[in-house]
Amino acid sequence: MANAEKDSSAFKNPLRPAYRRLRGFVRENFPALYRDGTRYDAIAAEIRRLRPRTIVEIGTCRGDNAERMIRLALGYGEVDYYGFDLFEDLDGATFDKEAALWPASLEKVEARLKAVRRGGRAAGVHLTRGDTTVTLKKAAPAIGRAGLVFIDGGHSYATVRADWENSAPLCGPGAVVFFDDYPNWGVGQLVDEIDRAAWDVRILAPGDYFHHTDPPLNCRLARVTRRGAL
Ligand SMILES: C[S@@+](CC[C@H](N)C(=O)[O-])C[C@H]1O[C@@H](n2cnc3c(N)ncnc32)[C@H](O)[C@@H]1O
Repeated sequence: MANAEKDSSAFKNPLRPAYRRLRGFVRENFPALYRDGTRYDAIAAEIRRLRPRTIVEIGTCRGDNAERMIRLALGYGEVDYYGFDLFEDLDGATFDKEAALWPASLEKVEARLKAVRRGGRAAGVHLTRGDTTVTLKKAAPAIGRAGLVFIDGGHSYATVRADWENSAPLCGPGAVVFFDDYPNWGVGQLVDEIDRAAWDVRILAPGDYFHHTDPPLNCRLARVTRRGAL
């Protein structure tokens, strides 16, 4: 039995490298067809529907979702991406308080996102380093109106509240806000407090399950739009 277990855990699917290459090829060349099976496919679907010209992401981190959003949106026209993160300013205490991931440097993320091209176009990439409870409000006049806002920065209640309060004024009719990680950390409380008379709030199913964490987590997206808008 022990040997059988050992043998089965040692099995490597010989098709895996080819499958990975194929996925990468589809992701880069046919982003509208690409699906990765995570909750973020719902954001991609919204970009295909909404075709936003201005995307704001709170918590750019290493640029994984930023790259996907930019590549997809560029297929429909010009795009400005505004990304906010602590980048090199993240320290251990803030990492713990905000239930964060470690970001790459601003310079590295900027190079990654500026290199994304579709139909001969590149996005306007505007990255701001610092605490979003301070930086987002200051950047608001330069952003104007956003088509899509993705709130996925600090996860403490105080930070998510500030990020929401500073994002809402960026959203005109038809704009869509996504919160990641509902109902965990401070995200659940804040999203549950959003005024349902003014905002349509939908918790998207099924979310992603992380069984290896303690406690296990179910991370879902919350989709928020102004009432009266599409
Ligand atoms: C979960 S990661 C974001 C992942 C990214 N949205 C993606 O999908 O690829 C959270 C990020 O928020 C950043 N962050 C945490 N607290 C922050 C704060 N108060 N101000 C700015 N950024 C913050 C962290 O540095 C980290 O890079």
